[in-house]
Amino acid sequence: MTQSEVTGTLVFTVFTVMLSSFQFGYDIGVINAPQQIIITHYRSVLDVPLEERKVTTTYATNSIQELSTISSPRNPTSATSWPEEEEEEAMDSPGLIVMLWSLSVSMFAIGGMIASFFGGWLGDRLGRIKAMLVSNILSLSGACLMGFSKMGPSHILIISGRGISGLYCGLISGLVPMYIGEIAPTTLRGALGTLHQLAIVTGILVSQIIGLDFLLGNQELWHVLLGLSAVPALLQCLLLLFCPESPRYLYINLEEEEKAKKSLKRLRGAADISKDITEMRKEREEAAKEQKVSILQLFTNSNHRQPILVALMLHMAQQFSGINAIFYYSTSIFQTAGISQPVYATIGVGAVNTLFTVLSVFLVEKAGRRSLFLIGMSGMFFCTIFMSVGLVLLNKFPWMSYVSMLAIFLFVSFFEIGPGPIPWFMVAEFFSQGPRPAALAIAAFCNWSCNFVVALCFPYIENFCGPYVFFLFAGVVLGFTLFTFFKVPETKGKSFEEIAAEFRKKRGSAPEPKAAVEMKFLGGMETV
Ligand code: GLC
Repeated sequence: MTQSEVTGTLVFTVFTVMLSSFQFGYDIGVINAPQQIIITHYRSVLDVPLEERKVTTTYATNSIQELSTISSPRNPTSATSWPEEEEEEAMDSPGLIVMLWSLSVSMFAIGGMIASFFGGWLGDRLGRIKAMLVSNILSLSGACLMGFSKMGPSHILIISGRGISGLYCGLISGLVPMYIGEIAPTTLRGALGTLHQLAIVTGILVSQIIGLDFLLGNQELWHVLLGLSAVPALLQCLLLLFCPESPRYLYINLEEEEKAKKSLKRLRGAADISKDITEMRKEREEAAKEQKVSILQLFTNSNHRQPILVALMLHMAQQFSGINAIFYYSTSIFQTAGISQPVYATIGVGAVNTLFTVLSVFLVEKAGRRSLFLIGMSGMFFCTIFMSVGLVLLNKFPWMSYVSMLAIFLFVSFFEIGPGPIPWFMVAEFFSQGPRPAALAIAAFCNWSCNFVVALCFPYIENFCGPYVFFLFAGVVLGFTLFTFFKVPETKGKSFEEIAAEFRKKRGSAPEPKAAVEMKFLGGMETV
């Protein structure tokens, strides 16, 4: 990395764009800390019948603990015993509130799932900058609905607001990495790409901190907390007006050579731009040779089938590891584990998460992707075991609460070392220019769908499995770890041709002649 490559305009532009990723993280984390207060509001708006209150008070020893039983009816907060005799009563009565709360959390993922298909398309239609500007309409609408939710039917306003914010996040989860990849100097592409994840985790952390009850996570101000993502959205709208359009978009998509050069000069300052221009010219020639590949063709064409299946498995591994169960529900998980200040433990998780993402920025180009993914998954496997053992034995040994807490911290650290950032990177590396947009769309869709399934189902699974819930995740993580070991190739420093050869090796088929491989990856076989 040379200093001349990091110009003021580049820093300003990356900062501006990262405000989107920051909002994404903020929306993930914001729903966690004020859970109990919002649930109380739902109950007062819906005028929940008396029996429901009676059931919750059987578990509760104070008002906050009382509320926690709503999201996990079998979680008696102080003595975690999932008592059999109270089971039936607890399962029936809080059904409506559990459902509304699950929806409030998971509508975000539904929005993301739907919009993840359209990020690339919108970016191509309007240009990257305008697409990000227009997307902010969604972000602002979602923030307004949630910001004013206290004044109306809060459950409806929050569920719809979360859905609309999810649409925004789905769009930017395609747009941001695409734009950053297009404006970054080659030597900084990996580091700037990882900043997307870093901004996400920073957003999570900030939402957790300002969600503290003496700041905004209280009866008076919880709605402000939810609506606050409007601030980065407004700031971004203003700053985007001064950001250069992607030179690659101008040059390759619009064939506007002069405008592309002007934009590049702004981004690179005094540095020589001839290398960038040559690179873009090559990309344009390649793009002209390649045919676009449909999502269906990714599965029917034997050359793409293996990489797309591996890509989907990586995203499933990321989400089904249970990471968002921690981020959406950590406060109630910590309560279950008997931690006396669960909100602070949640903030600790956010801080550790951010720290290890910074570490992975430096590690990802040194150690290989595959090895980091494997290390991360294996570590997470042991952490889920410890977490479960801690919860199961909590009744006998109160100090087990610390085992569970430590296990959660380590779980998040291992996640950010590999399984957090890597799937987004690797999918782009598996595919050449032609099939890449379709592959990224289906991968993002898969990621959001799994996110949705976890968000919606976790309270029910936790209700069903009690303290054994993380054993389930342990099994899943082990399965994906083995899959990675046997099926995922290393991509670090490899060309498309070499990556294709790796996939063939994993598939057990004979190597193809070099020319044939080149043809396929330049699109020659795409129409077969
Ligand atoms: C990744 C995941 C996202 C998760 C986040 C946590 O970005 O895609 O679902 O919440 O990491 O750091």
